[in-house]
Amino acid sequence: MTQTRILPADQAGLTEAAALILRGLPVAVPTETVYGLAGDATSGEAVAAIYAAKGRPSFNPLIVHVTSLTMAERVASFSPLARRLADSFWPGPLTMVLPATAGSPVASLTTAGLPTIAVRMPAHPTMRALIEAAGRPLAAPSANASGSISATRATHVARSLGGRIALVLDAGPTEVGIESTIVAVETDRLRLLRPGSITATMLADVAGVPVEATDTGAIEAPGQMTSHYAPSKPVRLEATTARAGEYLVGFGEVTGDASLSLRGDLIEAAARLFDLLHAADQSDAIAIAVAPIPHDGLGLAINDRLKRAAAPR
Ligand code: TXA
Ligand code: MG
Repeated sequence: MTQTRILPADQAGLTEAAALILRGLPVAVPTETVYGLAGDATSGEAVAAIYAAKGRPSFNPLIVHVTSLTMAERVASFSPLARRLADSFWPGPLTMVLPATAGSPVASLTTAGLPTIAVRMPAHPTMRALIEAAGRPLAAPSANASGSISATRATHVARSLGGRIALVLDAGPTEVGIESTIVAVETDRLRLLRPGSITATMLADVAGVPVEATDTGAIEAPGQMTSHYAPSKPVRLEATTARAGEYLVGFGEVTGDASLSLRGDLIEAAARLFDLLHAADQSDAIAIAVAPIPHDGLGLAINDRLKRAAAPR
């Protein structure tokens, strides 16, 4: 049980928040939409700690927050259309799903192993100051426990995540109150993945291409979508030894060809999950086997993801 402190979003609060972020601990911070639970987007462990605090039973990809186009271009590749949208709506409550750059510093857990990345340049001075102080992009889902509603005040965050995070920066109620609009930017169209205060009409006016609405079922949980990263090789779970031709992903005492965590640590295992699945997929092995993962805490999210990876396709 962690003692959760609420501090005003002044210089002292920001300094403390940035120090926690650099130690890999998540901090709740206001944005113009809702409070976010921010962590270092370049550290798999930091992102795993966000999931652990939220108690989320599955890994949804997270939005990566930046303060400049230069920072954004290090993690995502911008078409002329994406740049036009950035010029018009950033900083602000618009998240764009774009191709991730080759050699992006963002951890694979942040994007849940997807080839795309959701990027947003927030307008809120506190979130911006925290990104600047940390000197790196911050991943931030809404700052609420899994399954509960988003927080628009520091007290909402404390009620939902109290005892699970060290710090909430308080800058009063958020202005917009609903999460950012999410749009997938494609060559000749936009796909609205989540409606928000920047509407389809506003986007179409700037983009000059059609904006298609996607059904919301798919949006809440892209982890369920078929486009979600899945290995190309068959995956066998609960394996304690490798069969002929298998690449064994280990955990704890099952050492395997590579281990999610030799010391059986779930945060470390979550951080390494997608990297190891990619490595196993690219190896010479014909199939992938994965050691048993305890079914509690972050293990629920890891097992959810593994179950999908192992599902017949
Ligand atoms: O306003 C907001 O966007 C807030 C503040 C904190 O910035 N953040 C937020 O994050 O709402 P979250 O994690 O609650 O929602 C992120 C959504 C998820 O539904 C996720 O599926 C989607 O973004 N998402 C992230 N990366 C994606 C990707 N590569 N492709 C499709 N959807 C993606
Ligand atoms: Mg949310």
